[in-house]
Amino acid sequence: MSDFKTDFIADIVLSGGTVVSSKTRFKADVAIKDGLVVAVGEASAMPAAKEVVDVSGKHVIPGAIDAHVHFREPGYTHKEDWETGTAAAAMGGTTTVFEMPNTNPPTRSVKELRQKQDAAKKAHVDFGIYGLLAEDNVDELQGLVDGGVNAFKCFMGNTFGNLPSPSTGAMLEGFEIIAPTGLRISLHAETASIMAWRQERLMKAGIHHALAHIGARPAVVAAEAVSRAAVLAEWTGARIHVLHISSAAELRPLAEAKARGVDVTGETCPCYLLLDSRDYERLGSIIRVNPPVREASDSEAIWAALKSGVVDMIATDHAPHTPEEKRKDVIWEADCGFPGVETQMPLMLNEVANGRITLEHYVKISAENPAKAFGLWPMKGRIEAGALADIAVVDLDRSETIRAENLHSRGKITPFEGVTVKGVPVHTLVRGRFVQRDRKLVPESRGWGRQVTDVQKMPTPEPKNTDQTLAALLHSGSAKTAGGPR
Ligand code: DOR
Ligand code: ZN
Repeated sequence: MSDFKTDFIADIVLSGGTVVSSKTRFKADVAIKDGLVVAVGEASAMPAAKEVVDVSGKHVIPGAIDAHVHFREPGYTHKEDWETGTAAAAMGGTTTVFEMPNTNPPTRSVKELRQKQDAAKKAHVDFGIYGLLAEDNVDELQGLVDGGVNAFKCFMGNTFGNLPSPSTGAMLEGFEIIAPTGLRISLHAETASIMAWRQERLMKAGIHHALAHIGARPAVVAAEAVSRAAVLAEWTGARIHVLHISSAAELRPLAEAKARGVDVTGETCPCYLLLDSRDYERLGSIIRVNPPVREASDSEAIWAALKSGVVDMIATDHAPHTPEEKRKDVIWEADCGFPGVETQMPLMLNEVANGRITLEHYVKISAENPAKAFGLWPMKGRIEAGALADIAVVDLDRSETIRAENLHSRGKITPFEGVTVKGVPVHTLVRGRFVQRDRKLVPESRGWGRQVTDVQKMPTPEPKNTDQTLAALLHSGSAKTAGGPR
């Protein structure tokens, strides 16, 4: 019993577990009050609590922060909606998601942002909302910032939703507008024109087997797009994030950009670490995802880059589609992507069990680094007094077999069907409230999730080349002479 007297009663004490940070692990209880962690330490140092939850034998880690999910609402709710998508997150130990703008309508102006915020009222977990950076909405970007988006997404290559990728000119103007806000611009870094050309050539030649998908999107599309985006970020001072790193080839321009001081982060997803070209025959069109799953040598290089820090984080690109939309004989007809937000943590904990990554490093790439990259640190991404109580309690000894029919997502098809994993989140808490308990969704947590805006702080970056932005030139009326000799 507590021999340390406090003048308050905690809401919950998680008792007897092992708390894990990116650097260390130690046996400690965790006291939670009003959504915050208020104490981490010896049982004798805990305040009295309304509820003591025995988590002995379990590990207590920060909830995962997934910078890349597609919840499909509005527009494609037969694939997913905010309730099913965030239920899947809660079941997967993920406490914060950043949701992508390729809905219908896309999130390209304040009006559509409000529509999405409305849909998100059902969320079980906290969320950020991406605004779109496209060719035709450059004039809406400032409004999206003022309206409260948490990041931007730029589709340099097209994918589900077929949003046209912006020209490099539109991208540069978008970067100029967004740079001073400090908000990060996440890139689908694949070059559209190369892929359109190749896919058309392959289709005309009647080639439509699953592996042809890699042929349409060779790794050079990623290397080229990362390099080009990094040049624009370096020029404007914009912060960028490379989504779903799939290749060895793009790691070099990413590492080089980091070395030049570009504020760039990168993510990969479980499919690029755990699957490779040998899985195409077995999985057929189910494996189709943009960018494609590539060679075993790519997976090896990405694992090494995660270790060295060139790749900063794990995300999921949670992209649910129906089994009918995924299963096609002609690869070009299969929808791209699959659900991931519910299976990421179990799959990665299984790699902890396999000795491929330490639990501390997993905490770094799943929680600490995304929190830092997207301005949520120090309120999210760690378990210490003063932080929000976003927590996954994991049982590293528990095995489960992944079955699409058991997923909470509406996308009941996964390339990880039948995979048995060791390591599962058994409770998930968002701001001190159970959203998953004992492997069951807490239905009452519907609507508990809120947008991260109040805890997000993106420091203002060093502005670059501000005298040459289109806005500066247009407003000063000096566009006639700009760019000439000085
Ligand atoms: O395969 C993919 N599917 N890649 C993406 O980038 C988008 C996603 C989707 O929205 O379906
Ligand atoms: Zn995506």
